[in-house]
Amino acid sequence: VLAALLGLGAVLAYGERRRRAAQATPAPQYPVYTREEVRRHRTPTDRVWVTHGTEVFDVTDFVELHPGGANKVLLAAGGALEPFWALYAVHSQPHVLELLREYKVGDLSPEEAPPSPDATQDPFAGDPPRHPALRVNSLKPFNAEPPAELLTERFLTPNELFFTRNHLPVPAVDAGAYRLHVEGPGGRALSLSLPELRGRFPKHEVTATLQCAGNRRTEMSRVRPVKGLPWDIGAISTARWGGARLRDVLLHAGFGERREGEWHVCFEGLDADAGGAPYGASIPYGRAMSPAADVLLAYEMNGEELPRDHGFPVRVVVPGVVGARSVKWLRRVAVSPAESPSHWQQNDYKGFCPSVDWDTVDYRTAPAIQELPVQSAITQPRPGAAVPPGDLTVKGYAWSGGGREVVRVDVSLDGGRTWQAAELAGERAAPGRAWAWVLWELRAPAVEAGTELEIVCKAVDASYNVQPDTVAPIWNLRGVLSNAWHRVRVTVS
Ligand code: MTE
Repeated sequence: VLAALLGLGAVLAYGERRRRAAQATPAPQYPVYTREEVRRHRTPTDRVWVTHGTEVFDVTDFVELHPGGANKVLLAAGGALEPFWALYAVHSQPHVLELLREYKVGDLSPEEAPPSPDATQDPFAGDPPRHPALRVNSLKPFNAEPPAELLTERFLTPNELFFTRNHLPVPAVDAGAYRLHVEGPGGRALSLSLPELRGRFPKHEVTATLQCAGNRRTEMSRVRPVKGLPWDIGAISTARWGGARLRDVLLHAGFGERREGEWHVCFEGLDADAGGAPYGASIPYGRAMSPAADVLLAYEMNGEELPRDHGFPVRVVVPGVVGARSVKWLRRVAVSPAESPSHWQQNDYKGFCPSVDWDTVDYRTAPAIQELPVQSAITQPRPGAAVPPGDLTVKGYAWSGGGREVVRVDVSLDGGRTWQAAELAGERAAPGRAWAWVLWELRAPAVEAGTELEIVCKAVDASYNVQPDTVAPIWNLRGVLSNAWHRVRVTVS
């Protein structure tokens, strides 16, 4: 129905444009622009320009007519349309291109070939191309999140929009030469090629949300500065992962179901720092072996091979656990009596008391983050928005770590004085295995013009854990575990 409505809107808008075009003068000779010049036109005030192929269009007057909403078309402002059209199939109809042509204002300069990367100078030169809708928090290494407007449009995040958290350059992996090494005391060493991993072990599929420990860090740094990338609410995404169970591979290597004492399974990536130290992390042995924990050595993401940014050809996916343990570009799995010695296991991704600062912090005193606490955020409306009077739709996501299902999301329009329960939509999961987020929505009746609303959300999980109301008591110097009630202020006008 939605597609039909969008299509109908586009056709009506198209008809109107065509009528006007019929009265127009013959096509002018078009001026030539560089991509840099196009990039300067990103807002209605500066005019909204986009490119398609080698043509340049000024779509300012179309923004409000866009059937999918003005905010969506503005995401492409100043750049190419193709990556957005590829995501939303409604655009692949001839009349859409014809409609666009009526807004043509120029051509791209023929010298617009992208500069050739000099791999010897720049360790990041071999990184893959990325979707322009991503909000980039750091380019090298690449760290980016989907815009809130698109984050909860779909239950499964499209691969191109899935948040990316890279500490190092993306390694170039030759799938033909790839080997995964498995080793440790009490088992035999394995060296598995990609076809062996795919062929020898049953394929298992899991829908799981990954969330970075630093999601919503910007809210923490508003209380007091913290060290870390300025993630907004989008360092979280959901995919259907396919691969071999880690448990099956470990059993195949001869490791037992259980081990006496404390044991860990350590992972190493193919990405390494200037000194050659690889990215690494570990999880407890019991989680790695548990059939109910669904830990995967994933080679598929939403039915496609893993994209390079997300760990091609093989990554670990540890459902319900902080994203940092889902090691990408996996080269080694080692069973060990100690946690991973990696910097990211030992000296990062840990929580501390708000009074601990960089002079007093002792990373040895805190456990590494594994299961994450309950979380939720509002994706619509956006902070500072002017919403029309009348019914208001509030949307967002909610998720909890450890497979704890989200049982309720409460929403307030008055800063937390009164609450209503939102409607939840998600996939049914076995008890204790709710690895994926729920998307929620609340339709609030008749908000009045001239008022200011403070919209707040908080989620409750199956253990009745609930988010803390403010940030200050959970503030920590690294800005991790930021899960206070999410607050969005809007005006009704
Ligand atoms: N694995 C490797 N090899 N290198 C990395 O930098 N980043 C980790 C984890 N695995 C990382 C890694 C962190 S901190 C997170 S949150 C997730 O990958 C992010 O996964 P994504 O980029 O696929 O969203």
